[in-house]
Amino acid sequence: MDFWETLARRRSIRRFKRVKMPEEDVIRIMEAGRSAPTDATLHLWTAVRIVDEAKRAKIAELIAQPHVAEASEFFVFLADLYRLENLLKHRGRELAKDRFALFVFAAVDAALAAENMALAATALGYGSCFIGAVQNAAEELIKILELPRLTYPLFGLAIGVPDEDPPPRPRLPRDMLFHVDKYRSYSREELDEAYRVMAKITRSGDWLRLLERYAAAGGYFEARSALMRRLLGEQGLG
Ligand SMILES: Cc1cc2nc3c(=O)[nH]c(=O)nc-3n(C[C@H](O)[C@H](O)[C@H](O)COP(=O)(O)O)c2cc1C
Repeated sequence: MDFWETLARRRSIRRFKRVKMPEEDVIRIMEAGRSAPTDATLHLWTAVRIVDEAKRAKIAELIAQPHVAEASEFFVFLADLYRLENLLKHRGRELAKDRFALFVFAAVDAALAAENMALAATALGYGSCFIGAVQNAAEELIKILELPRLTYPLFGLAIGVPDEDPPPRPRLPRDMLFHVDKYRSYSREELDEAYRVMAKITRSGDWLRLLERYAAAGGYFEARSALMRRLLGEQGLG
């Protein structure tokens, strides 16, 4: 598929046909992930491919996202400083004690690899969906996937044959996302316009409800932050 067509065709797919993908396609998609840029060549990410059906069903149930079980493939992306520690130790060096910056860039590395995979999947005619909800079951995932210290599950990526053809979802206007030379503030009209363009993405027609549910005080992300802070501490990434 042409590159621009691939970009335009990529959208989150949440209904998949229950079919297997040819292994050669999965390998091409994984290779697309492997070729993503990586900060300082550190490769601060790992993706666990979940091939055990029972394990996959368990994860889908834990996070209440059936498309995770239906997709042909499901990968859990980790921030991974464990392999880096192994590489350093192998040559008699110690991993940095303050790992905050490494963790942030691990998340960047993982996202870049995953988006490369999502685009490669689209180019091959498949659909995909990022699954941030794995965060809600991070504690269980650490056990189920036997994750060592210095690793943390960031998000999942489901890939498969689409069983739906949703329209493209809206985005904020370009000049809200791209500023020139310096950060600028937003006018009331622009903020209203943002709500207007994004209304389409919600069933209720009110984007505020979605923002509230996720990001206002008491929203999902607040609960995730508390869990994440505790688990990152336990994983040696605090
Ligand atoms: C980091 C991340 C986490 C996401 N988590 C989920 C998720 O848990 N479940 C889901 O169905 N969609 C999830 N999505 C998909 C977004 O809802 C979707 O990208 C957004 O609504 C825009 O739609 P589009 O991808 O079709 O353009 C996630 C996307 C990203 C980037």
